[in-house]
Amino acid sequence: MKKICVVGSINMDLVIETNYPPVMGETVFGNNFKTVPGGKGANQAVAAAKLENDVSFIGAVGDDMFGAKLKENLKNSGVDVSGIENIGTSGIAMIIVSGGDNTIILEGGANQSVTPQLVDRYVELIKECDICIFQLEISSDAVLYAMKTAKDLGKYVVLNPTPVTGFIPKMFEYTDIFVVNEHEASALLDISVNNADEAKIACQMYLDKGIKQVIITLGSNGCVYNVGNEVKYAEAFKVDAVDSTAAGDSFIGAFCAEFDNLGVDEAIRYAQATSAIVVSRKGASVSIPTKNEVEKFLSCINNSK
Ligand code: RIB
Repeated sequence: MKKICVVGSINMDLVIETNYPPVMGETVFGNNFKTVPGGKGANQAVAAAKLENDVSFIGAVGDDMFGAKLKENLKNSGVDVSGIENIGTSGIAMIIVSGGDNTIILEGGANQSVTPQLVDRYVELIKECDICIFQLEISSDAVLYAMKTAKDLGKYVVLNPTPVTGFIPKMFEYTDIFVVNEHEASALLDISVNNADEAKIACQMYLDKGIKQVIITLGSNGCVYNVGNEVKYAEAFKVDAVDSTAAGDSFIGAFCAEFDNLGVDEAIRYAQATSAIVVSRKGASVSIPTKNEVEKFLSCINNSK
C-alpha cells in the first residue's frame, strides 16, 4: 500500500450527452444530463484510493451544496479529506460527451483559492506521503510551491500539466514522473504529436530535459513511455468507449499506485486496464473501478490469449 497525497482540483461535473457538439452560434439537443463528482485531482485521488492505497488530499471545495457532496464522495471513496477547505463556490466543469469523447469548460471556483499558505497548513500530509501528485486546475503558484515542498522533503513528484496554460517550465526541476496526453505534449513542445512515432520523439525530448519517467497517453491509440533510456509503445485495450471522462486521471492514479511494485511495463498495463474500464462507463469518479475489478479485467485478458 502506497501513501499518496494529491494536491489539486475538485469539481462538480455538469455532463450532457449529444450526438454531435455544437459549433459557435448553433443550438443542439442533448440528453442524459447528470451532475457527477469530478475534477482531475479528485479523480486521480479516487483512482488511487479505490486501488487500495492510503490517499490524502490538499485542496478546496465551495462552501455550498456541491462542496458538501464533493467532499462526501471523496470520503466515501476512502480519501482523507482533512486537507480540504470550504471556500466560496465549488469548481464547475461543463462537459459535453459525444461519440465516447468529451470537451470541457472549467470555472475554477474554490480551486483558485488554493494558495501556498493553504498548502502550508496541511504540509503534514505531504510529509507523511511517499508520492505527491499534481495537475494544473489550481493556481500555478500553489502547484510550484507544493512541488518544491514535496521535492525538498524527498518525495516522488508526479506532474500532469493540464490545462497546459498553467504550466511553468520551472516545474520540470521538481518533476520525477511527467504524464501528458498527445494534445498537451504537442502544445507544450510546439511539435505535432498525433501518433506513436511522433509521441516517441516527444518522449525523448522530455527525457533530454532530465525527466526520469515520461508517459504520453494517446487515448484509444495506447501510450508511449520510457523504461530507463528505452522509449516504448503500448497498445490500448480495446473496449466499447462510452465516455472518456477521467480516463487519463485514473491512468495516473493507477500508475502511481503500482509503478514501484510492478515495474514500469506492468504498471503501464495496469493503468491501461484501469482507464479501459473507466471509458466503458459513464461519468468521472463514479466510473473508476476497484482493485478487484481491475484484476478481473486483466485476468480475463490473460485467459483469452
Ligand atoms: O479529466 C476529467 C476532469 O476534468 C473532469 O472530471 C472535470 O472536472 C475536469 O476537471
